[in-house]
Amino acid sequence: MEQKEISQAVISRLPRYFRYLGELKDEGVERISSQELSELMQVTASQIRQDFNNFGGFGQQGYGYNVEYLYDEISKILGLNKTHHLIIIGAGNLGQAIGNYMNFERRGFILKGLFDCNPALEGKKVRGISVQPMDHIGEFVKENDIDIAVLTIPKTSAVAIAEELVSYGIKAIWNFAHVDLHVPEGIQVENVHLSDSLMKLSYNINRYNSENTESRQGEGR
Ligand code: NAI
Repeated sequence: MEQKEISQAVISRLPRYFRYLGELKDEGVERISSQELSELMQVTASQIRQDFNNFGGFGQQGYGYNVEYLYDEISKILGLNKTHHLIIIGAGNLGQAIGNYMNFERRGFILKGLFDCNPALEGKKVRGISVQPMDHIGEFVKENDIDIAVLTIPKTSAVAIAEELVSYGIKAIWNFAHVDLHVPEGIQVENVHLSDSLMKLSYNINRYNSENTESRQGEGR
């Protein structure tokens, strides 16, 4: 069957549906209508129906969605029914914080190794996993079937390290370095910039403040 191209905007909303459905499932909720889900998630019911229609709809009209089924289907779409093996490159503040965060493993992202060029970090344990020197990476990637590399190194070295990782067979990069990586077709890159989110927050504070100032000025007239 030919696969329909799904927009990135829809894909980016799926993890949020997945989180909410996981919570509903944990609370023992069996069925939910798009209207109820809409109120819970503060998105319109038509948005939810449109998003789900990309995948065949999932639900029966007038009957609502089966929470567990929907959760499982979205999990499959997101590839969370498979296990992924990760390595972290750059075991500094951010690399260690990610390494210490256990929750990713619940979703099938298994941390296998940490690497750093700083000899002072060699052997340091993060959740029981020792930091290794960079010259071990190639062999480690092949032997441990690593598919995702997390890049938490400065941007100056990220491009060259990404190329090296691809040559070892890495299929995906979760990139925290502030630089665009140019990788061959077929290699997936997801850039994460926490500061983008902070700037969005700053914009919203600004917008709210200026709208309120304007409305207070309007009232005073
Ligand atoms: P850090 O200085 O604590 O850690 C960086 C680590 O990378 C160090 O342990 C260093 O030895 C290692 N390293 C440097 N060059 C390397 C190379 N060529 N090969 C292997 N290891 C190498 O810095 P921190 O705070 O952990 O940040 C790491 C990077 O992530 C920084 O470049 C920072 O700008 C970026 N960052 C990105 C964020 C985001 O939202 N995208 C948020 C915070 C930091």
